[in-house]
Amino acid sequence: MVSEHSAAQILVASNRGPISYTLRDDGALDARRGGGGLVSGLSAIGSEADALWVCSALGDGDREAVRRGVGESGVLMLDIDADLHADAYNGIANSVLWFIHHMLYQTPLEPVFDDEFRRQWGAYESYNRAFAQALADRAGDGAAVLVQDYHLALVPGMLRALRPDLKIGHFSHTPWAPVDYFRLLPDDIASQLLRGLLGADRTCFLTRRWADAFADCCTELLGPESLKGTRIGVHGLGADADFLRERAHRSDVDERMVTLRGEIGPADPAGAARRTIVRVDRTELSKNIVRGLLAYRQLLRSRPEWRERVVHVAFAYPSRQDLAVYREYTAEVQRVADEINEEYGTAGWTPVVLHVKDDFARSLAAYRLADVALVNPIRDGMNLVAKEIPVVSEQGCALVLSREAGAYEELGEDAITVNPYDVVGTADALHEALTMPAAERSRRTERLAAAATALPPQRWFLDQLEALREER
Ligand code: G6P
Repeated sequence: MVSEHSAAQILVASNRGPISYTLRDDGALDARRGGGGLVSGLSAIGSEADALWVCSALGDGDREAVRRGVGESGVLMLDIDADLHADAYNGIANSVLWFIHHMLYQTPLEPVFDDEFRRQWGAYESYNRAFAQALADRAGDGAAVLVQDYHLALVPGMLRALRPDLKIGHFSHTPWAPVDYFRLLPDDIASQLLRGLLGADRTCFLTRRWADAFADCCTELLGPESLKGTRIGVHGLGADADFLRERAHRSDVDERMVTLRGEIGPADPAGAARRTIVRVDRTELSKNIVRGLLAYRQLLRSRPEWRERVVHVAFAYPSRQDLAVYREYTAEVQRVADEINEEYGTAGWTPVVLHVKDDFARSLAAYRLADVALVNPIRDGMNLVAKEIPVVSEQGCALVLSREAGAYEELGEDAITVNPYDVVGTADALHEALTMPAAERSRRTERLAAAATALPPQRWFLDQLEALREER
């Protein structure tokens, strides 16, 4: 990896970086390495390569690390003014762009693009400019720069203007909005976003569906000529089978399985295990956790034979809690889970086991135990949980999958697919999953795992890099 001052040949840029710091009471800094596809993907190029990951300092710990000059080689944290970052990240990226691409607005009242929005948009531009400048300063001649996600949609265009010699890629980890929905944005902002991405040599998506939606937006808003200088790529990130299988069998996961089995409880006095419906998500509006709970309630209501015999294991980890709408959603998840437990719970049976404290080892324990996986997002770029559970599951796991998840393109054939808004349909799908014959379940799980791991993160990353280097 390069030192932060020399020229790099491979640069990655993202809002959230691979490492974060927390400030302890005694003043020391704790470093924590993150996971995810990008972290594993980048590992493919090895620690010797002259690579640099440019990211934001997020929170007080990161900012203190930057001030003290603490850091890792190969990682450059930008200490962008906290208010400016909040306007760009909370205000524009997560409250506007995320909402547009996931179609989350309740349109009779939202969105309202007023002068406060324009002010925040200015912050988003400055934030993107800070990244573009940092990349331009650190990139070696003809280097490859891989810009990530909706936080940095303007970077490719800005960077192209500063450094025409670079090979610039952009990757969207989200869906892309259909053109009629994208047009909720003011025309000038919509065009600016498209032109920002079109500044890249390659702009890439997780599925063909999102790539086509982007191309439609460009054609409709900017004209077909606009697509001439940019190639649109599709790279469907898969699960990291080797990592998952090894990690899922460490002792901390075994311990969590014992605890979890205790929480689930036996189905009958003879000790046969209860069936489990597992979901693991960030508590994210697009993940549709509340309707998942309502579908489970519908199952218990309409098919009483499942009472006492099944448990919904739902892990909903805190996310974006600076935003009121996320805090309200988190409270709603808790409220509906409590309601179901009050309505149906008995002395020996808790129908919903809800955990909200992030614990990766416990998530893996749930993956191993799952009889049914519930992945029912309103809209999702890919959804890696749908790909991870079949890889780790021990007795074969039936997958109930929303047709609006990017993963549906690869897994749809062997999943039981649902319309995420249809609570009765989802309850029926859960029943179908719970009653799927064991042999059928194993057969499908094997195929799901094979499809899910077809493009592991390292290959996913290298494919993009190679394709980018071949441009022009
Ligand atoms: C999605 C986005 C990522 C983001 C992640 C977590 O997967 O595509 O860019 O990092 O959510 O969200 P957060 O706001 O916590 O970074």
